[in-house]
Amino acid sequence: MTVSSAPGKVYLFGEHAVVYGEPAVPCAIERRATVTVESRDDDRLRVDAEDLSLDGFTIEYGRGTDETPDVDVSESLIRAATGYIDASVEQVREATDSPNAGFDITVESDIPLGAGLGSSAAVTVAAIDAATRELGVSLPSDEIADRAYRAELEVQDGEASRADTFCSATGGAVRVEGDDCRAIEAPDLPIVVGFDGGAGDTGKLVAGVRTLREEYEFAADTVESIGDIVRQGERALAEGDIDELGKLMNFNHGLLEALGVSSRSLDNMVWAARDAGASGAKLTGAGGGGCIVALDPSDETETALRFTPGCEDTFRAELDTEGVREE
Ligand code: MEV
Repeated sequence: MTVSSAPGKVYLFGEHAVVYGEPAVPCAIERRATVTVESRDDDRLRVDAEDLSLDGFTIEYGRGTDETPDVDVSESLIRAATGYIDASVEQVREATDSPNAGFDITVESDIPLGAGLGSSAAVTVAAIDAATRELGVSLPSDEIADRAYRAELEVQDGEASRADTFCSATGGAVRVEGDDCRAIEAPDLPIVVGFDGGAGDTGKLVAGVRTLREEYEFAADTVESIGDIVRQGERALAEGDIDELGKLMNFNHGLLEALGVSSRSLDNMVWAARDAGASGAKLTGAGGGGCIVALDPSDETETALRFTPGCEDTFRAELDTEGVREE
């Protein structure tokens, strides 16, 4: 039996625009997905998802598409949960040259699903690390990041950046621009997260931005402007200038809102954080619902979010300097 965990993340800047080659800066946070893997002596997979902030389920299935798992949860949930696991296992079979490997896989996570905190990247990264090690192969973190990216690409119909998976594999603050992924220095950031209890459909949201960008030149310009904010944000990050970071996050949220990926509950939480004195606040991840990230060293933002209609949970998130690790 082999166990690995990998962190979730928040985007300080640059989600969506990163899909079109602009830079982005995600930061790993101390919320993890933990994946336990045990080899089987056949080529089947058994997935046990206990704690994904949804009803847990266990399914066992083979490779035939005609095989529908007999469980009492929605098919779309099964597809979402098993899609990333299937794609990860394909990467593991290829990396270890074991085309017929089968596994019992247990996923536990304290990262809400589809809420902008990188749950799928964390599960994919941890699954690839645990399953390859289970077969006696230890991959360097950049190869895990690359294979996890390829798994995400497959599940998300070719629409994904390297940002989520690289950040989860490496930990800390990172900068991603196209294929160029690197760790960057970050000061202690007073990160507060607000969660509306919902989730967005990353594929649909990314496709929506693509359509807008193709339809309107000013939408394409908006995507480029997000890139400009990220470049300015990198300087503020290097200088540890929290007020400037906050201002730029506010600007970034405005442009994401213009691109149609915010929601009423995300906007409510962003405004509650700003009114409470946060240096800045924005949605994080694909949007449509899920989480916002704010910067506030005081307790005011958390207190305000607790009383904000539509906010289901709020917590302080420490930067996690450790990426994927053996448990
Ligand atoms: C989703 O967490 C972030 C997006 O930029 C998509 C991606 O980078 O793959 C919306």
